[in-house]
Amino acid sequence: MLQFEQTFMDFLLEHQERHNRTYHFLILMNSILNAAKRIQHYYLTGALRGNLGLAGSVNVQGENVLKMDEIANDVVKHYLSRSGRVIQAVSEEEDVPIDMNLEGGRYFVYYDPMDGSSNVPHNLPVGFLFGVAKRNLDGPEDLHLRPGRSYIAAGMFVIPTGTFTIALRQAGCWRFHIDEIQNFVKPTRMTLPENRKTWEVSYNSANRETYSSALQKWLAANERKYAFRYLGALAGDFHRILTNGGIFMYPAIVNHPDPKKNRPSGKLRLMYEAAVTAFMCHEAGGLAVDEQARSILDVVPETPHQRTALYLGSAPLVQEVAAALSQKA
Ligand code: AHG
Ligand code: MN
Ligand code: MN
Repeated sequence: MLQFEQTFMDFLLEHQERHNRTYHFLILMNSILNAAKRIQHYYLTGALRGNLGLAGSVNVQGENVLKMDEIANDVVKHYLSRSGRVIQAVSEEEDVPIDMNLEGGRYFVYYDPMDGSSNVPHNLPVGFLFGVAKRNLDGPEDLHLRPGRSYIAAGMFVIPTGTFTIALRQAGCWRFHIDEIQNFVKPTRMTLPENRKTWEVSYNSANRETYSSALQKWLAANERKYAFRYLGALAGDFHRILTNGGIFMYPAIVNHPDPKKNRPSGKLRLMYEAAVTAFMCHEAGGLAVDEQARSILDVVPETPHQRTALYLGSAPLVQEVAAALSQKA
C-alpha cells in the first residue's frame, strides 16, 4: 500500500488558513527548509569534500570558526535574504545584525546555523536552530532585541538525522521526519511526558565542580534518579529531552579553579540557543529558567550575542532545580 504522509508545508498551510493568516510566514519557512536541506547536504558530504575542519578564523565569541560554520551561515543568509520577508537576522557567526529587507520585511530571525561544533569533525549530530519574531505593525519598532516571549515560532533541525521540530505560538510543538524526496513529513505533537521513568539529566559533567555549591548539592542528591545523557550539541540533547522528559542544563560556571575561566552568565547564547529551545519547551508543556530562576522567555536581550545559563525541560524538575539554586549552600 502506498502511504502519503502530510508534509510540513501542508501542515503549515492548513494552520495559516485556519487562523486567517497571511502567506508571508509560509514563504519565510520555505526558505528555512531550503537552507536546512542544503546544510544537511554539505554536512553529509563534509568528510569527502574536506569541509569538516577549521576555517582559520575566530568569531565574535572568540571561538575557532569551522568551515561548516561558514558554509551553514552563508546558506542560511542566502535563503533568508532571498525570501524578501526578513528585516534583519542575528546570526551566531556575525558580529552585528544582518540588514536584509529593512523596509518591506516582516520578520526578525535569530539563528545558530551550526550548533554543536565539537561533533563536526566526527560528522556526528549537530543542529540548526532558529527563532522568529514579527515586525511590530502597530507601534514603534523595537528592532531586533526581542525576548523569547515575543517569538512567533522557533525550531531546530538535527542534522544529518533528518528530524525537524518546530513550535508555533500557542499551537504546540511538532516533530517531522525527512522522507525519500526530502520533504519533512508526518507531524507528531511533542508533549513532555509526566512519568518520571523516562526522564534524563543532561549536562557536561566535566564541569560539575565549577557549578554553584547549591547546584552541586542538588546533583549529588538527585541525579542518580535519572538516566544521564550528553551529546554536547544542545539541539541533539534537547531533542532527547523533548521526547523522554527530564532536564538539560548549561549552568553558570562560578567555581572554576582558574577564576579567569568562570562564566557567571553561562555559555549558551540567549537569542538563538536558549530562547529558541525555551520557546519550544514551553509549547511542549515544559519550562526554562536561568541561574536566577527567571523564565528565559522574559529576559530582554541587551545585546544580540548575550549569554545566559540555561535549565530546560520538564516543569517539575526545572522548578525543583530552580528552588535548589536559590538556597544558600
Ligand atoms: P556552538 O557549536 O554553536 O558554539 O554551540 C555549542 C554549545 C551547545 O550546542 C552545547 O550544548 C554546548 O555548547 C556544549 O558545550 P561543552 O562542550 O562545554 O559541553
Ligand atoms: Mn550553538
Ligand atoms: Mn553554532
